[in-house]
Amino acid sequence: MKNLGILLSGRGSNFVAIADSLAAGCIPNARIAVVISNRADAPGLEIARQRGLNALVIPSKGTPREEHDRAVVSALHQNKVDLICLAGYMRLLSPWFVQQFPGKILNIHPSLLPAFPGLEAHEQAFAYGVKVTGCTVHFVDEELDHGAIIVQKSVPVLDSDDEHTLAARILEQEHIAYTEAIKIVLEGKFEVLGRRMVRK
Ligand code: GRF
Repeated sequence: MKNLGILLSGRGSNFVAIADSLAAGCIPNARIAVVISNRADAPGLEIARQRGLNALVIPSKGTPREEHDRAVVSALHQNKVDLICLAGYMRLLSPWFVQQFPGKILNIHPSLLPAFPGLEAHEQAFAYGVKVTGCTVHFVDEELDHGAIIVQKSVPVLDSDDEHTLAARILEQEHIAYTEAIKIVLEGKFEVLGRRMVRK
């Protein structure tokens, strides 16, 4: 049984999608061992509690980055976490944090990386006028929105879209993409050649 650790800061819809996939047996031999939020008011945390999951708040506000990261890493170790899924976790992990779990941290980003990294990716894509955007699940390395790509899903930008309708269609694909990526990583039948993740 593999232990997942979910880190979130907000709404938590990707966390819920992962939890639903686990409950439906779509991600075999895995469970959520802990959900950690850096914000006490994250709606995702309340959902985790309602679902009877081990839900922790490790507040980041006012805590030096290194101290906060150490507390989070220690909670992940205590819960014997094998794979960390960042699900709307609005904190940059320090290089030290990333080095504690090499190849074991995933993130989801609402654009087709390397386009539109960073904050407000949908707004960036919409304003740029791209006709296709999407989402990316990737390994986390020491640079923002940068590690090897595991799964991408494309989403057309419609003439009738605004940022909100576009974001909603991307989010539907995010929920599908994250489950796919976790399955691939837990199955372990892949290798990372430079930046390329290739299935074996
Ligand atoms: C998603 O758009 C995700 O791609 C980004 O943050 C958002 C989190 O949404 N990293 P949710 O909290 O999972 O609903």
